[in-house]
Amino acid sequence: MTKILMTGVTGYIGGAVLTRFAQRPDFNSFDIRAVVRSAEKGEKIKALYKNVTPIVGSHSDISLMSKAAAEVDVVIAMADCDDVDAATGTLQGLKQRFQETGKKPIFINTSGTGVLSDNAAGMYASETIWDDADPDQIALLKPSQPHRPVDLKIVAADEEGYVNTYIILPCTIWSIAKGPLFDQGISNKKSVQIPALIRASLDRGHGGMVGAGKNIWHNIEVHELADLYSILFDAVLSSNGPGHGREGYYFGAHEEHTLYQVGQGISDTLQKMNKSKGGEPTTFTKEELDKYFNGSSYLGSNSRCRPTRSKALGWAPKLTTKDMIASIYAETELVIEISASAKSDKL
Ligand SMILES: NC(=O)c1ccc[n+]([C@@H]2O[C@H](COP(=O)([O-])OP(=O)(O)OC[C@H]3O[C@@H](n4cnc5c(N)ncnc54)[C@H](OP(=O)(O)O)[C@@H]3O)[C@@H](O)[C@H]2O)c1
Repeated sequence: MTKILMTGVTGYIGGAVLTRFAQRPDFNSFDIRAVVRSAEKGEKIKALYKNVTPIVGSHSDISLMSKAAAEVDVVIAMADCDDVDAATGTLQGLKQRFQETGKKPIFINTSGTGVLSDNAAGMYASETIWDDADPDQIALLKPSQPHRPVDLKIVAADEEGYVNTYIILPCTIWSIAKGPLFDQGISNKKSVQIPALIRASLDRGHGGMVGAGKNIWHNIEVHELADLYSILFDAVLSSNGPGHGREGYYFGAHEEHTLYQVGQGISDTLQKMNKSKGGEPTTFTKEELDKYFNGSSYLGSNSRCRPTRSKALGWAPKLTTKDMIASIYAETELVIEISASAKSDKL
């Protein structure tokens, strides 16, 4: 049985990826261990999938991660792409695995195309497009960029020679995740960026954007992103494995959108729901950025990328920016439902 350690399976990406793995015909040939913080959720996962064993604890616990990683062939990390301790513990354990077996283990880590972000604050569309098949271009990214400290640590470990590392970098992920983990309330079914914009827009009664919303990000539907993990996993285990280490970046991205387009989509949706008069999105004021986004203009950055290496694996996402905009209605209903249940919990 292939031994796999996963983190983040109670989350949006990790839940979608475990769900995707559970749909594979060879799923029962995997011995999966999942690091979870909630013992109760761990038991529910075990009840759903007999071959998934929960390890209750934090992925930031270096000794816990080191021990867990030393016992597996593959680690798929999907919890927090900025947690250096999680990467340290995982790499320590994988090094021990290599020393004990003489076989290089595999580390598939989740980062994000936030690593490409600039300071546009919504005022321009960048001309720069980053290509995951161009390691020299990726090497130009400053160590101070988001997620970069963990990415660099992982690539350095590959260069040391005891592990093959692969980094998946999702962009703006969208749509409500589906499957038993989500239906049973075990995993988080919603993303980050669009729901955050919807929450702020509902509150102010109008679609909003950072600056003029001219900045561009790529987008990917969550189940199509989960396909990339499964396809990369197969490729990695095949005899002529794909690029790893400094050649092991895989963008999880398909089409592009401007922030303006998302703001307009939210504005139209709120109008359809009789929650706003509609019309063009307006710029978030400084007070609104402080209130809803911790004072950050991050959503106004550019993050443009070309997933050449991911697509060379045979990964072929189909859902478009138009589909993403159409999904805003259902995402808004979910945001409303979650905030209503949070309010009733407080009462
Ligand atoms: N969503 C996006 O659009 C997107 C795009 C690119 C990159 N990313 C990055 O991908 C990562 C996962 O994102 P997501 O959207 O799936 O987030 P999410 O839904 O919030 O899930 C995070 C997962 O990590 C787990 N986790 C967090 N801290 C942990 C700890 N100390 N020990 C053990 N488990 C821990 C959470 O467990 P609990 O259930 O216990 O909280 C949950 O399972 C993040 O680093 C995010 O920045 C996300």
